[in-house]
Amino acid sequence: MSSIVTEKLSEAVGVEVLDVDVDRLLNDDDLPGATLELLEEYGVVLFRELCADDDTQAAFSGKLGELAQFPLYPNPNVMEISFDPDNPNAEYFASNDYWHLDGFMDEVPAKASILSAHVVSEEGGETEFASTYAAYDNLSAEQKEQYEDLRVIHSFETIQRLTYPDPTPEQLAVWARRGVREHPLVWKHESGRRSLVFGAMASHIVGMDIDEGRALLHDLQERATAPDRVLRHTWSVGDMVIWDNTGLLHRACAFDRSKPRRMHRSTVVGHESIK
Ligand code: OGA
Ligand code: MN
Repeated sequence: MSSIVTEKLSEAVGVEVLDVDVDRLLNDDDLPGATLELLEEYGVVLFRELCADDDTQAAFSGKLGELAQFPLYPNPNVMEISFDPDNPNAEYFASNDYWHLDGFMDEVPAKASILSAHVVSEEGGETEFASTYAAYDNLSAEQKEQYEDLRVIHSFETIQRLTYPDPTPEQLAVWARRGVREHPLVWKHESGRRSLVFGAMASHIVGMDIDEGRALLHDLQERATAPDRVLRHTWSVGDMVIWDNTGLLHRACAFDRSKPRRMHRSTVVGHESIK
């Protein structure tokens, strides 16, 4: 293929591909494979100001793997992330402000997410990314040994409570339907790499005093998401950002929710359960 030109976005995470437009996105047969390699190495891949429409986004995303379906949206390959009152998931998106990975309640979490900016906020509304591979790699040898066999309980309720600390019985019932997941703290990927699985959806550590477990999870997250380890992307309309959902946490930064901001997300389903 014609080669691609890239530039690192930060010391910790992320790379920009400089010479891609919609035509190349759709027609360069080597680009999907190259993108997957960049994702593995850098965690986040940015195509700036592409202005891809939903069909274009879905066509490219579909070359990275099988796409999750979102039947509530006009194009079921693409979920709209916004606080518009007619967005059927608006209530839940408020918790995107807390560090999370997508599909943490699924047996197999998403492999990658692709987010395009359609309407951006004037202030705030950036998206931040932090590597959970680095979170593992930066542990001491002693910590690696201590945490090797820990298991963590995750739930939708845990992350939603951060937004709604006094939930109604209806909210609790809806959240409870999403169930509870137990994952190992240390994810031993098929590639041989290791990452930590934590974030705002992590409730507590199995077999450990609840407060002690929470303190450990909090501490791991604080270290992994220290400002110098985080990539903060400030959106322009048309930017497309792809991230490796298996080795990164992400979150939205605060913005005025009474003003419009609309992102379109496609999701490549995972093929590797957390083990
Ligand atoms: C998501 C998400 C963050 C944002 O779409 O999964 O977390 O900045 N979005 O909108
Ligand atoms: Mn998300």
